[in-house]
Amino acid sequence: MSEQPMSSDYSIRLGTSNDAVAAALLHSSRINEGFLPTLGPRFLGRLYRRIARDQGSFLMVAEKDGEILAMASSTENLGHLYRVFILRDGVIAAAGALFPIIRSLPRVFETLKYPSQGGSDLAKTPLPEAEILAVAVREGSSGIGVGRQIMVAVIAEFTRRGVESFKVITSSDNAAALALYRSVGFRDTAALEVHEGTESLALVWGAS
Ligand SMILES: CC(C)(COP(=O)(O)OP(=O)(O)OC[C@H]1O[C@@H](n2cnc3c(N)ncnc32)[C@H](O)[C@@H]1OP(=O)(O)O)[C@@H](O)C(=O)NCCC(=O)NCCS
Repeated sequence: MSEQPMSSDYSIRLGTSNDAVAAALLHSSRINEGFLPTLGPRFLGRLYRRIARDQGSFLMVAEKDGEILAMASSTENLGHLYRVFILRDGVIAAAGALFPIIRSLPRVFETLKYPSQGGSDLAKTPLPEAEILAVAVREGSSGIGVGRQIMVAVIAEFTRRGVESFKVITSSDNAAALALYRSVGFRDTAALEVHEGTESLALVWGAS
């Protein structure tokens, strides 16, 4: 049976570039939404290193005995993060993931053009710029409150940075993620079609 740590067994802290590989592995093993996992752990490792280093972005991790149990990645401005990543890491990252990138290009473009306003019937709903990009808890540590604790820490970090409102986008059928976000105060705000034929939901924390 997998290990079930008690809530006091782990600590939550901001991640550094040293945590990027562990965060990338968690992302690729636990998240199958979006196109990023298809680009492989090396590409994701670079992206996570950039998130940890970028002043407008941050990584939060839950750690126990030197092992990363959970991570959440967030940015104040996704457009800025993409631009910095492409400028500083783009060539090297793309070289290691060229074939997956070509295969994923349609989804890459779908994601890049997803509206910053809610789609369909909620077309006029403005969404905040700041965003939680991904949250993942290791399988054996799921369902015992680690995700909730890491989200509380993310909300505190955004607040410390003066960011009063932020969004998270997830697939409408991801029951665990939706329960987690709602339980820490996110409100369902807009239905979006980020990838053709798949409904996603944008949830917002704070004033929208
Ligand atoms: C989503 C995820 C991060 C939740 O983390 P977690 O540590 O398991 O969640 P917690 O134990 O902190 O539970 C938080 C809340 O969600 C609820 N919840 C957790 N798993 C659930 C499930 N499978 N179904 C329904 N509700 C669930 C809990 O009951 C709790 O609600 P409460 O606070 O009202 O009691 C985790 O399941 C995960 O890593 N999933 C795979 C990656 C993913 O889908 N990420 C989101 C998209 S980027």
